[in-house]
Amino acid sequence: MYKCRICLNNINPFMSFGSQPIANGFLKEHEFSEEYFFEMETAFCESCNTFQLVTQPSAEKMFHENYAFFSSLSKNMRIHFKMFAEMVMEEYFIDRVDPFVVELGSNDGIMLQNFMNNNFRHLGVEPSSNVGDVARKKGINTISEFFSLDLAENIIEESGHADAVICANVMCHIPDMNDIAQGIAKLLTADGVLIFEEPYLGDMLAKTSYDQIYDEHVYIFSAHSVMNAFGRHGLEIIDLLHQETHGGSMRYVLAPIGTHTISPNVEITLRDEKRQGLNSIETFVKFKANCEKSRSNLVGLLKDIKLQGKRVVGYGATSKSTTVLNYCGIGPDLIDFIADTTPIKQNKFTPGCHIPVKSHEDFHANPPEYALLFAWNHATEIFEKETQFSENGGKWIYFVPSVEVK
Ligand code: SAH
Ligand code: TMP
Ligand code: ZN
Repeated sequence: MYKCRICLNNINPFMSFGSQPIANGFLKEHEFSEEYFFEMETAFCESCNTFQLVTQPSAEKMFHENYAFFSSLSKNMRIHFKMFAEMVMEEYFIDRVDPFVVELGSNDGIMLQNFMNNNFRHLGVEPSSNVGDVARKKGINTISEFFSLDLAENIIEESGHADAVICANVMCHIPDMNDIAQGIAKLLTADGVLIFEEPYLGDMLAKTSYDQIYDEHVYIFSAHSVMNAFGRHGLEIIDLLHQETHGGSMRYVLAPIGTHTISPNVEITLRDEKRQGLNSIETFVKFKANCEKSRSNLVGLLKDIKLQGKRVVGYGATSKSTTVLNYCGIGPDLIDFIADTTPIKQNKFTPGCHIPVKSHEDFHANPPEYALLFAWNHATEIFEKETQFSENGGKWIYFVPSVEVK
């Protein structure tokens, strides 16, 4: 028995993804014997509707000076965050005098650079100092700290209250939501807004994209869970905007209760979630069965290809792929290597299953018969670049929403 991280009611795991390593912990051979593992079990709280990991490695094990994820490597995400920033500036900054924006998990500055370029007061809170350094080199104000209620108080003292607190793919990383929500509620001006977007539970369940679940993602949110997590700290949802990024995300806009008009999107989404069973434990029991089916289909396919004497290379050593590889038990016997653009992942091995990570040049130099699309959320951007692979007869293996060869 565990306690829900949000409402403290009792919860029971409905599923285990087995022993999992740090999802972004790409490592060298001499580090194999010291590798850290934890049992990744998931639970759904029927009281506050929050999907969560019951255990999570410490933040310092995941976010540090060698963090392997650099946001700006994706062209489409650069465009996406420019549009996100423009939406904030146009819809929420227009009538404010000298507005101040704080971004949590600002990474290499992919979003904040747009505020800097428009001369807005801004601050990035980014604990992984190596990615924060990239932002600082661009001139973006960034501090290397974990956001918390204490830190919110320090920011208020130094720079005043924030007109907007924004973040993307960060809120679901922070286990102590009650502390964070209090910190944000305190940091905001009386009519400030909190805008964040995260992988959406509705998409994960509909697509069986269980790879969204890994150490960093301690929550996969829905509108119901966000309403419950922030409602207890004086913030209400005023708008909800579904996004296509990261395989289906939700942008949540919140504000102090009673300060803003509430968009009809909120009622519509809450109703849809009930219809999709996002609040019912039976849905998660079905999800578990879907994950098991996906696993046996993928492993079966890879074994068949191997028996035919053909090669498979992974495309994108994503953090998500760590869950897939370790849950399915896929190692270098089934996948030759994984090609990835991130220099600090290259010439290392994937966490847990120890598949070599190489560059895209290696993929092009000796193309395999099959490429397994781990970075499926970046498919459009990848297919624009990899037309040659398909023209030469190469086939793509998908595992979301179902295992398929195309
Ligand atoms: N916003 C970027 C980066 C997402 S990766 C994007 O969408 O591409 C998650 C980021 O959150 C990492 O850079 C990590 O260092 C940061 N992070 C983790 N815990 C945090 C915390 N408590 N406060 C602020 N940032 C945090
Ligand atoms: P993400 O799914 O968490 O955004 O991670 C994407 C990973 O895929 C990251 O390691 C970079 C890599 N990648 C490529 O190798 N090639 C590409 O074209 C893109 C868009 C990403
Ligand atoms: Zn709960």
